[in-house]
Amino acid sequence: MREVEHPGGSHPATLILGIGELTTNAPEAVGLDPVDDPTGMIRDAALLLDGGRVAWAGPESSCADGVERALGRAPDRVVGVEGRAVVPGFVDSHTHLVFAGDRSAEFEARMAGRPYAAGGIRTTVAATRAASDDELRATLRRHVDEALTQGTTTLEVKSGYGLSVADEERSVRLAAEITDEVTFLGAHVVPPELAGDGDGADAYVDLVVGDMLAACAPHARWVDVFCETGAFTPEQSRRVLEAGAAAGLGVRVHANQLGPGEGVRLAVDLGAAAVDHCTYLSDDDVAALAASWAASGPGAGAQGTVATLLPGVEFSTRQPYPDARRLLDAGAVVALASDCNPGSSYTSSMPLMVALAVRETGMTVAEAVWAATAGGARALRRDDVGHLAPGARADVVVLDAPSRTHLAYRPGVPLVHGVWKDGHPAR
Ligand code: NIG
Ligand code: FE
Repeated sequence: MREVEHPGGSHPATLILGIGELTTNAPEAVGLDPVDDPTGMIRDAALLLDGGRVAWAGPESSCADGVERALGRAPDRVVGVEGRAVVPGFVDSHTHLVFAGDRSAEFEARMAGRPYAAGGIRTTVAATRAASDDELRATLRRHVDEALTQGTTTLEVKSGYGLSVADEERSVRLAAEITDEVTFLGAHVVPPELAGDGDGADAYVDLVVGDMLAACAPHARWVDVFCETGAFTPEQSRRVLEAGAAAGLGVRVHANQLGPGEGVRLAVDLGAAAVDHCTYLSDDDVAALAASWAASGPGAGAQGTVATLLPGVEFSTRQPYPDARRLLDAGAVVALASDCNPGSSYTSSMPLMVALAVRETGMTVAEAVWAATAGGARALRRDDVGHLAPGARADVVVLDAPSRTHLAYRPGVPLVHGVWKDGHPAR
């Protein structure tokens, strides 16, 4: 990037020029038709950041005017990106980053033919319980930095590898040190000490909705449950989610990952912000997800249940990919997330999710980029991230490519040239 610096304060107003292709995800705000292009893409664009927010976005040809109106003075810093594409920072709405240990042997066995099963989670539980706070903190920060390097500027983090009151409490507490989007997933699987017992799952759910929720809710924004054969039944899942909602937490659900089930309909029924995985869906599931948005449409302010696809899981577990085309054609709102965790998807790369979604789930490039940014924001019920309209957080990714298509066209290549987070250069 070519940079011309002028004296400015600690939060300099920055004008980015020479953007070959700017994805705003805010067509109305930049004078474009949302029906023609929901990603509000502008060619030969400029972007003004000020005070940690986007101040103006538009064609470079009208930038003198735009800057004068938005700032009323010259910017403190002008950066030229020489024709590169710019997208909003990725919003990864689903990760499990409070963990210790390594499950590469399990991955290797899977690639040799053993199927993925939810029980592998307990390997990570043992390692996580044995780790110190500082070890967990160091691993968490390393993964947050790794994600930032790949353009992720908003990250949700779940607990779920503690499975005791003390270990879940410390998981959400440590997660809250690095993000506001903390999810209490005490109901990930039944812990090993109760797993052999016939009534163990119900006894564990009693603990989750009682002392564990009371200890964790103060550090969390969301409650989640793994509603799946081998984890929790729909009835147990409903208990967990209703208790979490009564404690003031928003609802999100893991469901329909390993087979069909009632999880998606339960999530819609409870007004969940998102239901994640969505690999095995019935026609009723798809219709329920679409109908959840029907009242107000997927525009800003609408609140339905987002279907979050996690194609890193199918990649790493050799399962069939979800069908994004079917969801989108039915009118559902789709997000993409990494599900970064040591078992089913050990990657923090949102560019890889875009590539997999385009190659394997039937999404267009525009849909996949929207899903990895604005879709993730919807899944977290955030209106300040995932787009680059004036007023949005100045979370910006400059790609080392002339178009966002390269995210899918050049899989596995480090395409992130620069990142601004809250208006500050982050790498
Ligand atoms: O989202 N599905 C449940 N939980 C994780 C897997 C965690 C693990 O295997 O450690 C997931 O895929
Ligand atoms: Fe997950």
